[in-house]
Amino acid sequence: MGTPGSALRSQDWFGGTGRDAFIHRSWMKRGLPDDVFDGAKPVIGICNSASELTPCNAHLGQLAEHVKRGVWEAGGVPLEFPVMSLGETLIRPTAMLLRNLMAMSVEESIRGNPLDGVVLLSGCDKTTAAMLLGAASVDLPTIVVTGGPMLSGRYRGRPVGSGTDVWRYSEEVRGGRMSLTDFLSAESCMTRSNGHCNTMGTASTLACIVEALGLSLPEGGAIPAADTRRNRLAHLSGRRIVPMVAEDLRFSRVVTRASMTNAIVTNAAIGGSTNAVVHLLALAGRLGLDVTLDDFDVHGRGVPLLVNLMPSGEHLMEDFYYAGGLPVVLREIRHLLAADATTVGGIPLVDTCTDAQCHDRRVIATFDQPLVADAGIAVLRGNLAPDGAVIKPSAASPHLLHHTGRAVVFSSIEDFKARIDDPDIDIDADSVMVLQGCGPRGYPGMPEVGNMPLPAKLLARGVTDVVRVSDARMSGTAYGTVVLHVAPESHAGGPLAFVCDGDTISLDVPNGSLTVHLDDGELRRRSLGWRPPEPAYDRGYYRLYVDTVNQANLGADLEFLRGASGHDVARGSH
Ligand code: FES
Repeated sequence: MGTPGSALRSQDWFGGTGRDAFIHRSWMKRGLPDDVFDGAKPVIGICNSASELTPCNAHLGQLAEHVKRGVWEAGGVPLEFPVMSLGETLIRPTAMLLRNLMAMSVEESIRGNPLDGVVLLSGCDKTTAAMLLGAASVDLPTIVVTGGPMLSGRYRGRPVGSGTDVWRYSEEVRGGRMSLTDFLSAESCMTRSNGHCNTMGTASTLACIVEALGLSLPEGGAIPAADTRRNRLAHLSGRRIVPMVAEDLRFSRVVTRASMTNAIVTNAAIGGSTNAVVHLLALAGRLGLDVTLDDFDVHGRGVPLLVNLMPSGEHLMEDFYYAGGLPVVLREIRHLLAADATTVGGIPLVDTCTDAQCHDRRVIATFDQPLVADAGIAVLRGNLAPDGAVIKPSAASPHLLHHTGRAVVFSSIEDFKARIDDPDIDIDADSVMVLQGCGPRGYPGMPEVGNMPLPAKLLARGVTDVVRVSDARMSGTAYGTVVLHVAPESHAGGPLAFVCDGDTISLDVPNGSLTVHLDDGELRRRSLGWRPPEPAYDRGYYRLYVDTVNQANLGADLEFLRGASGHDVARGSH
């Protein structure tokens, strides 16, 4: 397929003179010239997650038109198709539950159709993740065009970061430092234009990671959605995917272990979301790459924070683009990047950034004078997280990174919500808040509730951070000393299930440990008689998910989706 001189995959549908070829061509022509499906022109799928229920992706149809121009111009045939879409803010119980379902939608839509290459259009957290997973398991030549971040909003003269300022304002309201009227008037200022969240949340993180993996053209991560240069990027991506088919530059030739390590290093340097960890681990599982949680420690530890964006810093994605965007960061960390990782452009990633120039050092720092010396996502292990947990030190309070405190345990998110603002709750600033039942199986879907809001009584005393531990995830726009992704999760019988109020927990980020001060015998005694909670779902996708999802340290993918099925389909439909 796709090698110079060989038949295009799409010719399995469109080639020949038989009845099936007649059917395939006839239904598709609709005014197109006869030679469109003659085998000389690669058919390029434009996989579009646009939906009005996913507002960060709602504009992708416009970008698709620019991709099409590029594809036609380069001698290909563009065909746009929709896939399932997941709006992070709306969908219940959590978009993460459905990421794998959307990935199946992407995978089967690509494989089942006469496509020679694919352009993926996405933008919200899970739409980008699911696109990557699904496309990886088909392994056609693939290029990604993310939708771009929103323009920076402002409220009373100050920048408003999507997500980050929602968390901040709501804590200020609960702490009595912001009026409800002011809170509600900020609501309309946050979303200024089309595009995805404009902080370095998960959507921006994944957009940058797509660029660092080599799956987009340079600058693909940061150009604002409203900037016409994103249209140009889409046009050029359409132009580029056509020769990628002839070069047989498949997904798996771009995304290798080397590019994965580049993504891990980049994620540290940009202060990227902890969610990148689960998505990259799941992607590695699809591609059969030997990438584990430990790689985040090995390759991310010691990498400095260079990007001054919320939630770790002050600025927003629009500022990041004007400062030079990801190519500037890549140039600063070039000596840490794998030289052999290639890109969809056909040149090594390290060669894409040699001319990058920084236009604002307030936004992108130099490697020698970083914002934080060691910013990589830290991996924690210990008897509370035998298979690992993660924390984002750059978003945490430095004085809590080495901390011992008394556990205050919430058995579920409902328990947490019911008791957190109880004036009699026995908690102080040194406590460690523990949340159970929010892992992949437990919730189900591993929601972004790990950054538990602080108790009102502590907020009223001016406390701004407390150590929090859970098997949940955290929004990439959130912040705090928050330990996440504890594995195994409590619903899988992990030690987290057996922590009780009053137990002592130690967090030691510099040494990578998370410990509950209980000996093995006591943990074993508490586990006696423990039974996995009865599944709350007995049918449909929820049932499939709960029965087959793996743990966070493997990416929370459905176990049977690990690996790839390639692009062959043995049988036709007629
Ligand atoms: Fe879609 Fe943030 S909610 S990008």
